Amino acid sequence: MVGRMEYKFDFLVIGTGVAGLSFALKVADYGKVCLISKTSLTETNTRYAQGGIAAVTYQPDSYEKHIADTLEAGDGLCKPSIVDLVVKEAPDRIQELIEWGAEFDKNPDGKYNLNREGGHSEYRVLHHKDNTGYEIQRALTQKVSEHPNISSFDHHFAVEIITQHHLGVKVTRRNTDTQCYGAYVLNKRNNKVDTILSKVTFLATGGAGNIYQTTTNPTIATGDGPAMVYRAKGAVENMEFVQFHPTSLYNPGERPSFLITEAMRGFGAILRNIEGKEFMHRYDKRESLAPRDIVARAIDSEMKASGSEHVYLDVRHLDYDELKTHFPMIVEKCESLGIYPNKELIPVVPAAHYFCGGIKVNEIGSSTIQNLYAGGECASTGLHGANRLASNSLLEAVVFSHRSAIDALGKINAINFQEGIPKWNDSGTSNPEEMVLITQNLKELQQIMSYYVGIVRSNLRLKRAFDRLEIIYRETETLFKKSTVSEEICELRNAINVAYLVIKQAMDRKESRGLHYTIDYKKKHETFD
Ligand code: FAD
Ligand code: SIN
Repeated sequence: MVGRMEYKFDFLVIGTGVAGLSFALKVADYGKVCLISKTSLTETNTRYAQGGIAAVTYQPDSYEKHIADTLEAGDGLCKPSIVDLVVKEAPDRIQELIEWGAEFDKNPDGKYNLNREGGHSEYRVLHHKDNTGYEIQRALTQKVSEHPNISSFDHHFAVEIITQHHLGVKVTRRNTDTQCYGAYVLNKRNNKVDTILSKVTFLATGGAGNIYQTTTNPTIATGDGPAMVYRAKGAVENMEFVQFHPTSLYNPGERPSFLITEAMRGFGAILRNIEGKEFMHRYDKRESLAPRDIVARAIDSEMKASGSEHVYLDVRHLDYDELKTHFPMIVEKCESLGIYPNKELIPVVPAAHYFCGGIKVNEIGSSTIQNLYAGGECASTGLHGANRLASNSLLEAVVFSHRSAIDALGKINAINFQEGIPKWNDSGTSNPEEMVLITQNLKELQQIMSYYVGIVRSNLRLKRAFDRLEIIYRETETLFKKSTVSEEICELRNAINVAYLVIKQAMDRKESRGLHYTIDYKKKHETFD
């Protein structure tokens, strides 16, 4: 059976979080835009963002301080020129979000109420209570729905980006002339694969937290963008730097894990171990507000030492009314589970949260494949280095969507639609007889990643993970070749691809740096096992 429809759009935007929506809004006055998301338009990582968006607004803060904090968190691997431009372009991009309708909390004096998070030397995080992402998603989705040039398709799953490979031309990783002509997209409503041809494609597929057992990411986060680009022979880098958020609510069985924002520690919350004792002073002089990699490793170390499944966050000493005003969603969530934070400790545990690496892009968001840009969490811009500073990712997304949009608008008139792209061919395939083959392999993959490629790694654990993954990879490729395309098999394949890249790039890094910590190459003064 062949795929069903062929569409042509000037711009194809894959992903409807902050990166995809803001890119779409910037180019829509100049051409027809196709915007797709694999589930509903609003189910994104963006929607769950809590703490806020970092930007320098008032003294005593300064660009120099935000730049220094970002570089320090990145542990020597940030690109300084990228950090500089992101920090300095931040105020303009925030102003744009406000003009698009996003609201950030203000104090009675009219100034923004700023949060502080780990690794920030100043209060600089603009926020909307503790649901900043929801507010940004709401405003941008509304704005996009009003634009006549934007056609939005929910429940459309991008299967592969289209390149010369689909014209029968051999493409290798050494090619510098690989071009993107659009994407094959599964319409989940009729299970047909459509061909969407585009002059420019923008990938904004978000993160990949679901390759781990415990994650703050919604189920859409399976690393589809980096996996598609890797298969198309584009560059994907820095995948070993997986950020674990130190404080997700310990509530076994809940997926995704509910986040307790780091801004709560900026507000005065204190970490305590299972015995109720403070411990962060033993690991870093910034204590509970040290950068995220250090806090997550310290918690992991305390849990391993005591054999406990969580530690605690203590807010009992804080004013409860103020806490409720500032963090209404979190307090409501805790109380709904019978945890009253004014009287009790909140059980918390680290969870996979953010991928610092991704599709390699330059300072205008261009990937190594022509006419293909990538932005937001699926991209690796050089801003985060080995560890992302909290609340720098919403910012990175809006800065790079803007830069990519300007570059794409300068080029679009010189790009033609590619002729002769074949329709998706799935002849000889059939529905998989046993879905359990797919679901079980995903669970195994998540176990492998959680046990062997977590917060603390070793050569032995990585080798074990690599060998186990290879078995799942072979089984899944065989299944993929004979199965009708489905979201489930594609997501599993993408998750395996991304897990492979995390493990391989972790094995290649013969040191401990930032989020990649291995007991075989310990950092000076750090002895987390
Ligand atoms: P997303 O918002 O994740 O959107 C991804 C989109 O891609 C979705 O529309 C999805 O459907 C689509 N998609 C994916 N694959 C496919 C496919 N194959 N086909 C079609 N569509 C596809 N960052 C901060 O800066 N500040 C914070 O306070 C903050 N808090 C956070 C709290 C939580 C709980 C989480 C999970 C993350 C948080 N982050 C925060 C990180 C930040 O939210 C994300 O990095 C950012 O929102 C990613 O935006 P994005 O546009 O790149 O992707
Ligand atoms: C948080 O609010 O703690 C998450 C912030 C982030 O991931 O940047």
